[in-house]
Parts: sequence; structure tokens; C-alpha cells
Amino acid sequence: MSEPTSPSSPTPGASADTMTVRGGVPVEGELVIRGSKNALPKMMVAALLTAEPCTLTNISTIRDIEVVDELIRLTGGTVEHDADRIRITAGSFTALGEVDVERLHNASRIPVLTTAVSLHRTGEAVVAAPGGCAIGPRPVDFHMSVLRALGAHDDHRDGMIHLRADRLHGARIDLPFPSVGATEQFLFAAVLAEGDSELANAAIEPEILDLIAVLQKMGALISVEPNRTIRVTGVKELGGFEHRVIGDRLEAASWASLALATGGAITVRGVQQQDMSTFLNVYRRAGGDFTIDADGRTISFRRARRMLRPLALETDVHPGFMTDWQSPFVTALTQAEGVSVVHETVYEDRLGYTEALRTLGAQIQVFTECLGPTRCRFGAANHRHSAVVVGPTKLHGAELVVPDLRAGFSYVVAAAAADGESVIHGVGLLDRGYADFRSKLSAIGVDHS
Ligand code: EPZ
Repeated sequence: MSEPTSPSSPTPGASADTMTVRGGVPVEGELVIRGSKNALPKMMVAALLTAEPCTLTNISTIRDIEVVDELIRLTGGTVEHDADRIRITAGSFTALGEVDVERLHNASRIPVLTTAVSLHRTGEAVVAAPGGCAIGPRPVDFHMSVLRALGAHDDHRDGMIHLRADRLHGARIDLPFPSVGATEQFLFAAVLAEGDSELANAAIEPEILDLIAVLQKMGALISVEPNRTIRVTGVKELGGFEHRVIGDRLEAASWASLALATGGAITVRGVQQQDMSTFLNVYRRAGGDFTIDADGRTISFRRARRMLRPLALETDVHPGFMTDWQSPFVTALTQAEGVSVVHETVYEDRLGYTEALRTLGAQIQVFTECLGPTRCRFGAANHRHSAVVVGPTKLHGAELVVPDLRAGFSYVVAAAAADGESVIHGVGLLDRGYADFRSKLSAIGVDHS
């Protein structure tokens, strides 16, 4: 999965990616945030829709890029990296074989997005039935129903899904849930399909809108309606592009949560205020504050009150409070004076990290009920997707094993806020979404080794 899979829990002390954090000191410093982890790899996939050269700048050195690099080379393309630029030319494209599909689809969620590309360029594609990861089963049924609606034929055999299509054609599709990945799959399929397509209940996250900007540069005809319907008119072929990737608003929010939890102050450069406006409002309600410069691309976060305020927090698709902001921010709520309530409505199992926070002294109880204004998909399905957080609690050091990317960051937030020493195993997973993670920790004064 591009979102971290739970590592086979390393025996304490044995793993090369173990970090010791000595907490209890407010963080202070300035960080540069580069291209979004959840936008950049998809734009690399978009480059496979044309034989012309494509260039991406404002690059992050995150591990997911390596998976896409390998995929591009295996399908016959070339990828060149320099300090701040990736240049891709997919002059030819050959479909991935089953062995490579199995390996790559289990390493990341990005390869499944090349299914539409492979159908356009070769008429065939193979998808590995996805494994689960630490935050849920991560199915691809919405992806498959989009491709079937656009004319692909699929055949499930020995754990793989084999798809064929002579020429994809336009269709009207209604997503059961505004899935980011299924929306991206639709975009890659519809832009070169014959005729008009429409996706109702589409995801409209800033990363999706930035991908649409890339496809528009390539020659695609795409419009996003106010009611979150995306309309596409297929074109015969697409050209190359040059694009500067939007900053990673999810990483920025993670560092902001670290400042809130430790009573410190962090300035982040390189993200847009409007991509974070919901997070900024919630941050201020919790007792944080921030100043933003004229062009909205430098945000200075700090705790504004001695005691943080408790909140009722519900995650949602954009423009709601992003699920990827949840775990680092909820960790800061362990320091709020009172009772907070959290309702995670995007993933069925994204509160697992709270068990580890309890070993540091946090008081958090998880429930299967929908503890928020929305009755979500998980309410009647017995998923532990709501939490109650009682604060403030004095956190103390503990030994932790990282289960996934954002939970891993929340462990660092908790360890930095705790008195004493914590040992965190599996921190290598953080390299998937937080470029130069360790040097950034040092830059803001977190005592780690
Ligand atoms: C993307 O994952 C992001 N990953 C996730 O970020 C992010 O949390 C998620 O979108 C939601 O915003 C990348 O962009 C690489 P979805 P994606 O399809 O596309 C269900 C992080 O930490 N679903 O929007 O895989 C799914 O199980 C990661 O940066 C189906 O049921 O997410 C989930 O409950 C974590 N069937 C919900 O939809 C499908 O075919 C949202 O998933 C597809 C999805």
C-alpha cells in the first residue's frame, strides 16, 4: 500500500529504523514543505498517458516516488531525477506482467491507478486484489466499477483481476463514496475515452484539482461542477506538461499538531492557506493560533493558550476535516482541558493508534457508535471509529511500534510532548510521507537519536 502497511513488528532494539525521542520540550523552528505525497505520484501516472516529455517540480524525496519510478521503467518509460525536478518520457508502454503487478500493488496504492493507462495504451491490464493495511481493507471495487462502466471487461482468476478493452467509451457514473483513488482512475480513463463521461459524487480534494490542472495542460477537457460532479469529454491524444506540485497540506498539519501538543511554535513554508482552511479553523478553536503571510504560502503555527480547549471533531471528505489530519491532531487533544469527541467517517479502522497513546498515559476510549452529527457507513458495521479523549493528561515515555504513516507521526507528537524517553520502532514508514523527516525534527529542536 502507498499508505504504510503494518510492519512485521520489529523486536525492540533490533530494527535499523528505531528512534529514541526525549520529550517535554516545546518545539521551535521553521520548515520547508515540498510537493504533496498524495498529488505527485498521481501526476507521474498522468505522464504515462502521453509519449511526450513531462516535467514535475517542487519534488519531495518520499519513498512512494521510488515505486512509481520502478513502475514507469518496467512499462518501458524513462524517468530522470535531479534536485527539484522529475522528467518522465513514456515513449512506449508495455503492460505489467503478473509478478510485477503482485509486487508493486502490494507495495503501494499508486500502481492500481495505472490500470486505465494500461487499457488506453495496450488494451489490457492486470490488478492484484489489494491487501489490507493498518487503516482498513483498502478495496478497489469502486475502481473496477468505474472501468467496467467505461467499457472494460474484467475476469477474476488466481487472485488477480485481468481487464481488457478495445477502446474505452464515455459513461455516466455515480460513486457510492467520494473516493480519491476511484476519482483519479475515472480521470485517467475518461480523458482518452470516446465521447463524454460524468462522475457524480466525485472526490474534489485539492490534490485532485491539481491533477485536473495537469490533465488540462496535457489537452484534456474536464469541468468540475458545484455539486461535485466531474464532466470529461474524451480527446484523441494528450501532450506533455510542466507542473509545479502543490505543497503537502497533510504534512504541514502534522507539524502544526506537534507545535500544539508541545506548546511550541513552527513556521511552515510552501503550503496554501486555502487548502488548509478547515484545519486552520479547528486549530484556532482548540486554542492554537497562526499568522499567514501576504501570499498565503507561509503559516506560523503556535499554541495561543496555556490550556488547549476540547473539541467535537468529525473527519470528512474535502472540504471537511481530512482523515489524514486526524491522528496527529487528536494526539494534541490529549493535552486539552476537558473531554473531546472524535468521529472518523472516512476509514473504518483509523483509531488503532489510540491504544499506543494509552501506554504513554493518554485517556482515550474507542467506540463503535457514530459519535458525531453524521450517521456514517461504519455505524451499523461494528467498526471502532469514534473516540472520547479526556485531558489534560501528563504523558510519559514508552516503547511504540509504528502501524502506519499518520499514526507513526502521532507517536512522534506524543513522544515529543511526553516527559522522558520514548523508543519508536518502524519509523522508516514515516519516510513514505515526510521527506527529510529526521532532519526536520532536529531543525525544530526535538531531541531524538
Ligand atoms: C487517498 O487514498 C490517500 N492516499 C489517503 O492518504 C487519504 O486518506 C484518502 O485518499 C482519503 O482522502 C493517496 O492519495 C496515496 P479513497 P485512497 O479511495 O485513494 C473506500 C495518507 O496517510 N474505498 O478516498 O486509497 C476506502 O476503503 C493516506 O496520506 C472503497 O471502498 O482513498 C476508504 O474507506 C492514507 N472502494 C474510502 O473509500 C474503493 O474502490 C476512502 O478511500 C476505493 C476506496
